[in-house]
Formats: sequence, structure tokens, C-alpha cells
Amino acid sequence: MRAVVYKAPCKVTVEQVEDPRIEQPGDAIIKISTSAICGSDLHMYEGRTAAEPGTVFGHENMGVVEEVGPGTTSIKVGDRVVLPFNIACGFCYNCLRGYPNACLTVNPAAPHAAYGYAQMGPFRGGQADYLRVPYADYNCLKLPGRPGDQWEDDFITLADIWPTGHHGVVLAGVTTGSTVGIFGAGPVGLMAALSAVMMGAAEVYVIDRVPERLQAAVKLGATPINFADGDPVEQIKEMRSSNAALQGRLRPGEEKMSGADHGIDAVGYQARDDDQDEDQENPTQILENLVRLVNPTGKLGIVGVYMAKDPKGVDAEAKVGHLTLPWAEIFEKGLQIGMGQAPVKNYNEFLRDMIIAGRAKPSQIISHRLPLESAPDAYRAFDQRGGEYTKILLKPDLPASAA
Ligand SMILES: NC(=O)c1ccc[n+]([C@@H]2O[C@H](COP(=O)([O-])OP(=O)(O)OC[C@H]3O[C@@H](n4cnc5c(N)ncnc54)[C@H](O)[C@@H]3O)[C@@H](O)[C@H]2O)c1
Ligand SMILES: [Zn+2]
Ligand SMILES: [Zn+2]
Repeated sequence: MRAVVYKAPCKVTVEQVEDPRIEQPGDAIIKISTSAICGSDLHMYEGRTAAEPGTVFGHENMGVVEEVGPGTTSIKVGDRVVLPFNIACGFCYNCLRGYPNACLTVNPAAPHAAYGYAQMGPFRGGQADYLRVPYADYNCLKLPGRPGDQWEDDFITLADIWPTGHHGVVLAGVTTGSTVGIFGAGPVGLMAALSAVMMGAAEVYVIDRVPERLQAAVKLGATPINFADGDPVEQIKEMRSSNAALQGRLRPGEEKMSGADHGIDAVGYQARDDDQDEDQENPTQILENLVRLVNPTGKLGIVGVYMAKDPKGVDAEAKVGHLTLPWAEIFEKGLQIGMGQAPVKNYNEFLRDMIIAGRAKPSQIISHRLPLESAPDAYRAFDQRGGEYTKILLKPDLPASAA
């Protein structure tokens, strides 16, 4: 079969690799209808992780069940399914407590697993014709309809970006009437904005510098903040404290709460420096901004990735993920911090039903639908994080000429 293979920093190819096969009784083989390229793939693509050459990329996968092992009971050939990017067993201590993002049995080397990802176990990705899914009964989320229908590009967001954005919103404690600041208008930040609005937040600010991505945030009901126009934290505080309607309702002392009560990091360690040089990275930029933006007693949801192995980190400490944070201010403000990989399985079923009910259309942020053969060009373009490319879907069934 064809697959997108990582060769070296900034180089992927589409190659013939061996077809996957049933290895365990609970496995299923999925014929991929859509596999998405993720901002997380770009960390590997740029050589900013421990990813080995030869890795087949692709952790955002959906398609139709082609074959099942003898131990599967609820999933059958022909079922349309989407897979959480995390692979989990469903029976270990962590899975049973609702933490499928920290499954203890699937990956022998670490307490988590994913398809086609550095340090997440020996599982191939789904930017390919077929994918092997372990513990298929647990991992497959069944979908109505058929490949290529009106929901295809909505359902693919259930593999990662929407549950991850949603998790950021949940970690940050967003609820009806909340004020939320979301750093990053990439796919994850945009999905966080979708969820925050859906959950009834009153004010949702989305910070980035890419105009097209900020426009996408506006379409979702958020207020755009361009960090190229100045300190984003000051911009939000200024916007809030110059809003006469907001001032009129303040109790004594409440002007000290001119930031947001809830903050989300949807950028991670490859954040651009927003006050010195926007072309340089500052791995703590978002964390520092969040601590300044979020009001005393507020909550932070950090879903942007921080890597323990970053060969190109800005200094020796950053190369091993040791970053300096304003802990005293975090303590003084009494902030609560939640972070980590999203437990996709906890949310994907309910978000699926929002799509089916017509209450959410997450596919509105998708910019490109391309054949597998386009992957090398698509990675190069998406890596620029430029205006045109918001989210790219690879469709193995599209002819190469459709690029
Ligand atoms: N926790 C999880 O389970 C999980 C799952 C998926 C993705 N992620 C991570 O979420 C992050 C976002 O993913 P994505 O697909 O949206 O990536 P992306 O790279 O497409 O988007 C990141 C956005 O951040 C913006 N940005 C850079 N510096 C900034 C700054 N200083 N202030 C504000 N915005 C800034 C960029 O312009 C870009 O639009 C990545 O780190 C990704 O690895 C985590
Ligand atoms: Zn992803
Ligand atoms: Zn488990």
C-alpha cells in the first residue's frame, strides 16, 4: 500500500510499504477514507522530536472496516469509523478511570500510545491506504453515513483537533458566561473557540498573527487579537477595560479582573516570540502570556505540546523540555493548571452527535482536500503556517491528478 513516510527533517515521501495485517485477535484493518495532517505532525516533520526516519505519519484517521480479528465483537466489516489519535486498551487502571490518553498496556515503552507518532509506540500512521487498529472494539467510534458524504470532513475532526480543543476548554473550566483567552488560531485553537462558544462563553478572544486564521475565529464567534499589533495580553485587557458596558457592571475592586478567567494554550513549545522578534521561537511565550492574562483564581488548559526531546531547542535546557516559568505569580494568583494529551475517547461520541444533530460544523475550518501523493507539497506548505493552509485532509481515493 501507499504511505506517507518521514525520511529526514523537512522531508516526507509517499512510498510503497507492506500492507498492515491482523496481528492480535482484537485488531481491525481500516481502509482510510480521510487522514488529516496535524500541527503535531509538523513538530516531527521539522526534526523537533525523536521521530525515527521510516515512521509512517498520520494519527487523525477515519475510514471503513476492511477486516476484523476473531476477538472483535462490536465492530464488523463495512462499519464506518473514526479513531481517536490515542490508542488505548479500555481495561487498564488508567483507561477504566477515564484516562485513555494514559493507557498502560498498549505501548510497552510509555504510558500512552498513538498512531504514527514519536515515542508513542510502534504503531504506523494512517496517512496511507490502510491502518491497523488495536483493540478495535474500544477504539473505533461508529459513524452513520458513508465515505465522502456531507459529514466526512466534520467527522475527521473527531480524531484529534475537536476533542483536543474541547479538552482545553474543559481543563480551563469554561462554562456559561465565561471569559476565555485562546492562544493559537491553528486547527486546535479554532476548535477550542468552537467549543467555548458552544458551551456558552460570553467573551472568547483568539490570539494569533495569521489574518486568515483570525478570520476563521471570527466566523466561529470569537474576537480576534493579532499579536503582531502589540502585546496580546494588554490588547485584551485594554479592550475589556475600555468597554463601557463592562465597566458599568463592576463591583468594588473588580477592575483587577480585567483579564480572562479562563486561558487556553493551543500553540505549545514552538511559539513565536511576540515581543522581541516574531521570527524567533520562545518556548515559554504562551505560558508567560497566560499567567499574565488569566485573572486571580483562574484556570489554564494547556493542550499545546511541550516535548521532552527537542533536538533543535533554543538552549540546552529547552532541548530536554526544562522551561522556566513564573511560578511565584502562578502561586500568588492561585491559578489552576491542567495539561497534557487529550482523552479523545471521553468526548468524541458526544461531539459526533453535535455534528449529526446539525449543531456544529467543524469542517468549516478545513482548507484543503488532497490526494495522498500531494503529501510532500502539503507538508511543506502547512509548515509555513501561512494564510491559505488552515487544515489539510489527505484522501487516498482521490487520483494523484486531483492535486
Ligand atoms: N494535547 C493534545 O492532545 C494535542 C493534540 C493535537 C495537537 N496538539 C498541539 O496543539 C498545538 C496546536 O496544534 P495545531 O494543529 O493548531 O497547530 P498549528 O501549528 O497549525 O497552529 C499553531 C498556531 O499558533 C500560532 N502562534 C505561534 N506563536 C504564537 C504566539 N506567540 N501567540 C499566539 N499564537 C501563536 C501560529 O501562528 C499558528 O497559527 C500544537 O502544539 C500541537 O502539537 C496537542
Ligand atoms: Zn493531530
Ligand atoms: Zn488502557
